[in-house]
Amino acid sequence: MAKSTPKPVTVPDCLKAKHQGRKLVVVTAYDSTSTKLVDTGEVDILLVGDSLGMVIQGHTTPLPVTLDEMIYHTKAVVRGRSHALVVTDLPFMTYQLSEMQALESAGRILKETGANAVKLEGGVRSFGSIQKIVEAGIPVMGHVGMTPQSVQEYGGFKVQRDTQTILEDALAVERAGAFAIVVECVPVDLAKQITEKLTIPTIGIGAGPHCDGQVLVFHDLLGMFTDFRPKFVKHYVNLAEAIPQAINQYANEVRTGIFPDEEHSFK
Ligand code: KIV
Repeated sequence: MAKSTPKPVTVPDCLKAKHQGRKLVVVTAYDSTSTKLVDTGEVDILLVGDSLGMVIQGHTTPLPVTLDEMIYHTKAVVRGRSHALVVTDLPFMTYQLSEMQALESAGRILKETGANAVKLEGGVRSFGSIQKIVEAGIPVMGHVGMTPQSVQEYGGFKVQRDTQTILEDALAVERAGAFAIVVECVPVDLAKQITEKLTIPTIGIGAGPHCDGQVLVFHDLLGMFTDFRPKFVKHYVNLAEAIPQAINQYANEVRTGIFPDEEHSFK
């Protein structure tokens, strides 16, 4: 019998997962081919992160990424997706100016891409924008702790330890109506406290094991991104070694006439 494709994941499914104690699995995605490889039925959420500024575009921060670039990549991910919920990032300066700007950016990216939800950074300072977007029927994922768009304020991608501020930020995100929240680079105990206090699922990255789910960047998980490796990154395979090996073998076979052989040629 043919294997049935699992039902597409919805926003209410994510909330249900927390209440059933089922961990959410989140991976970033930026293009259609890798989305098809990732969306095996085991992943709940595909996050089109503005981390693409670093892992796709080669910048050192996500700050240069534009809304048009996010739309381009999100469309490709949506084309490749069959099961997981697609959440896409609002990039730097596409929601910070005003609540109306936030709503306009969220509406445009959802309409043009077919994504299911948007993610934006900040707690207390993004409260009004999250509320405005949610009121328009657009699901929002929040993001607190080390928020990469504030890298200049932090002076680098650093663990954030201001318990009171981060807790207030997380509570503000929930109060504004977000359906989930990324908690990035905070001590384990703080992430545990946030997870216990909130009714929406927490998705951790560098936030320890107590969150309701975990997210990793595609290129980190597969050992492809070697510019820097934060402590929280686990490589499940080492493609940074395997890919150059394959390329070198290909180059060698072309030069020695081994490739293409009969099997790879037309009669
Ligand atoms: O941009 C991104 O990929 C993210 C995740 C790392 C949470 O925000």
